[in-house]
Amino acid sequence: MERELQVLLISIMLICPTAIAVKVGYWPAYSYSYFPLSSVNASLYTHLLYAFADLSNETFEVTISAGNQESIALFTTTVQNSNPSVKTLLSIGGGNSNMNDFSTMAADSSLRKKFIDSAISLARQYSFHGLDLDWEYPQTLADMENWGQLFTEWKAAVVDESGTSGNDPLLLSAAVYFSNQFFQWGIVRQYPIDSITANLDWVNIMTYDFVIPTQINKTGEHAALYDPNSKFSTSYGVESWLNAGLSGQKILVGMPMYGYSWTLKSTANVGIGAEASGPGNPDVYTFAQIKDFISNNAATEVYDTTTVSAYCYAGLVWIGFDNEQSVRAKVEYAKQKGLLGYFFWNVVQDSNWALSTAASNAMDQYRLSGDSFSSLW
Ligand SMILES: *[C@@H]1O[C@H](CO)[C@@H](O)[C@H](O)[C@H]1NC(C)=O
Ligand SMILES: *[C@@H]1O[C@H](CO)[C@@H](O)[C@H](O)[C@H]1NC(C)=O
Ligand SMILES: *[C@@H]1O[C@H](CO)[C@@H](O)[C@H](O)[C@H]1NC(C)=O
Repeated sequence: MERELQVLLISIMLICPTAIAVKVGYWPAYSYSYFPLSSVNASLYTHLLYAFADLSNETFEVTISAGNQESIALFTTTVQNSNPSVKTLLSIGGGNSNMNDFSTMAADSSLRKKFIDSAISLARQYSFHGLDLDWEYPQTLADMENWGQLFTEWKAAVVDESGTSGNDPLLLSAAVYFSNQFFQWGIVRQYPIDSITANLDWVNIMTYDFVIPTQINKTGEHAALYDPNSKFSTSYGVESWLNAGLSGQKILVGMPMYGYSWTLKSTANVGIGAEASGPGNPDVYTFAQIKDFISNNAATEVYDTTTVSAYCYAGLVWIGFDNEQSVRAKVEYAKQKGLLGYFFWNVVQDSNWALSTAASNAMDQYRLSGDSFSSLW
């Protein structure tokens, strides 16, 4: 009987192949001087994003800074050496860019055209397969409307360019606030779901940075899957997008490859929510540094099933982060919710590709919804 069931399930898999999962990694251009591009294991990803190109506040065209000229020219060919089928996208903006410049550009149709035409031209010049907008964040209701209009025109231009050049149309994606609706920082505003559905291949929902040591003297998990006490969780973010009517097939859930550190008040209180006297030093650790910290200090590592995240501590140093186990659980969650895939910020923070591998394997593992059949595989 079990064998018949297996044959049946294999047939179902062949007849109805599941959508190809998308596994995205952002590569930060600032790492070029110390982390060789050739050592990125691109076979663990379907798409790698070059971060970042800039928006000029004078011409409102997309530009490449002087320091990034060399790496952008090498990016696509180099990562395709380790995975010829990996696709690349050029990401524009980022957390350190000026959101007011994006607001100015998006509000004016002639500036939008300059932005769009220059972005497409740069993508083709450097052999990218797509473009990603990282405007953090639209601030007003008008910004949100203009964000949607920008993508309507951008998609039309991409289709048009593809018709003219004969190349596949460029992919379009955007990094967005973790929730569809902003509820911090004053004005409540929502991303335009219709424009996303019509124009974007996916959105990267930034489900991290929920708690930051400089803002609170209590230890916390900055990318928790669940938080019983607040809206600041990955699951709240994912569900807000689904409830707003966006298809899961347009959503990539975000995962960080870094953690935040606090200095504990006492070694007697070391859990999530423990009293801290301030940020750790440093307050941010890459996953690679966390692994080193754990082994060099014989730190205690704990996996927390309530939040689906990890923390470690030694002496008064406490770090909250995602480990292999929480990453696997989040990928399973993404599959259960029917999401397109996941993304990591950022790939050079990994430790010997451990998180990249854990996520990729979890995504590839075929699993019917529910646990009942998983023993067959
Ligand atoms: C890259 O990852 C793949 C898939 O896990 C693995 O087979 C390969 O050995 C890795 N390559 C390097 C250079 O680490
Ligand atoms: C444009 O950006 C540069 C560099 O950030 C800045 O020095 C300059 O003041 C900006 N100009 C305008 C008009 O905002
Ligand atoms: C955390 O505690 C320290 C030491 O008492 C204090 O200086 C700091 O302002 C506190 N930080 C926050 C965010 O409350």
